[in-house]
Amino acid sequence: MPQQPVRIAPSILSSDFSILGEEVRRIDEGGADYIHIDVMDGHFVPNLTFGAPVVKCLRPHSKKIFDVHLMIAPVDPLIEDFVKAGSDIITAHVEAGPHLHRTLQAIKSHGVKAGVSLNPHTPIESIQHVMDMVDLILIMTVNPGFGGQSFIPVLDKIAAARKMIDAIGRDIDLEVDGGVNPETAKQVIAAGADVLVAGTAVFKDGPEQYAANIKALRG
Ligand code: DX5
Ligand code: ZN
Repeated sequence: MPQQPVRIAPSILSSDFSILGEEVRRIDEGGADYIHIDVMDGHFVPNLTFGAPVVKCLRPHSKKIFDVHLMIAPVDPLIEDFVKAGSDIITAHVEAGPHLHRTLQAIKSHGVKAGVSLNPHTPIESIQHVMDMVDLILIMTVNPGFGGQSFIPVLDKIAAARKMIDAIGRDIDLEVDGGVNPETAKQVIAAGADVLVAGTAVFKDGPEQYAANIKALRG
């Protein structure tokens, strides 16, 4: 499928964790398309966030798509918990285990959308043979683990992913995550991205700015 309209997926990693539900409602009202939920395990990535029980508590606060980015290894034992918690899209990393195909099969077996994510160094060819199963490709433009890092310009990889999606003709989101701000947003959209994750750029300057911050990323 060709590039779809740009959608914005604010990452709640940059929100106030003491009022997560309220923050989710605010970005929903501010025009978020997806709610991007970063799950970190202190093992696959050097930071910890939260697990499925928190996602379950957030579910009543928004009807928007819950885009759950799992930075955990192993992935498979926790998939069912994240499905039951209300995830709409579950994304696993290529680098998180030896059996990516099995992981994607497991996600899809629950009837939710399956995403695959690639760290900045991971070649796009690594997902060539799962293109028929994925609903979302997430290209990392920082090393995963923390918000507020500088954009790593793997624009050639985004463009290559765009070509692969266009060639297969399936409805696959091309999402970019890390260091996205109004300037880098233009670059990744030009390279073919159609879903932009942003933490710092959405949550800066307080809740009254969320809507304007989201709008500024649409290119
Ligand atoms: C990083 C996370 C990102 C992060 C983006 O591991 O996957 O979603 O929150 O944060 P910013 O937009 O601040 O780079
Ligand atoms: Zn993320």
